[in-house]
Amino acid sequence: MSESIYPPRRIKSFARCAGRMTPAQKLAVDTVLPGYGWIKNTVMDKPLILDIGFGMGHSLAWQAEQYSQFHFLGAEVFLPGAARLATLLQEKKLSNVHIAYGDVVLLLKEQLALQSLSGVQIFFPDPWPKKRHHKRRLLQTDFLNLLLTHMEPGAFLHFASDWADYCVGVKALLASHSKLSFEKPFGGIEVLERPQTRYENRGVVQGHEIEDIVVWVTS
Ligand SMILES: C[S@@+](CC[C@H](N)C(=O)[O-])C[C@H]1O[C@@H](n2cnc3c(N)ncnc32)[C@H](O)[C@@H]1O
Repeated sequence: MSESIYPPRRIKSFARCAGRMTPAQKLAVDTVLPGYGWIKNTVMDKPLILDIGFGMGHSLAWQAEQYSQFHFLGAEVFLPGAARLATLLQEKKLSNVHIAYGDVVLLLKEQLALQSLSGVQIFFPDPWPKKRHHKRRLLQTDFLNLLLTHMEPGAFLHFASDWADYCVGVKALLASHSKLSFEKPFGGIEVLERPQTRYENRGVVQGHEIEDIVVWVTS
């Protein structure tokens, strides 16, 4: 049997759903979203916070409003979500957010300067609860190492989830990394407050316990 000429398919942390968009969402994709697009290797004049998988963008828009001293880059593969965030930003007249529509792995590998991030937020990523799907979970060794090449010393990584076994795995992964500390180092960036997110709300309704895990890059 001949070997495939194509590289092995990367296991993705998301399943694209081809849901229908409303006419208003389509219009936002065409007319509003492009105004917030990320330009490769942009260097901001404010500390840059990457929010991975912002969903419909409400928590990110809230933070952008509260923290005008930061610039935010939101990554999301769900197009109606990206369009919704763009509309929220336009309504609130916020200019300290860019939106990277697409897979964050490609953003990191191809579009983002090294050591350009002062913080990374991953709020309620898809839990992939079935054991055979755990390999699809976003925060694993390879992805963490990729993230770390883009984080400056003192940058924080803030992970939140309502899935206890995901949190156990993430804490073990972070604790085993020599460049990370659960204590804020001298000069480390203060973690930002966050509102309750949509997916957090779902977890709360189902009686799940919420856990926030924060580490800093030490060197
Ligand atoms: C469970 S939702 C959480 C949304 C939001 N953070 C909240 O707490 O309500 C996870 C989001 O991550 C997005 N996502 C998953 N993998 C991604 C990837 N590789 N790049 C960008 N976004 C991703 C999904 O499209 C989804 O909107």
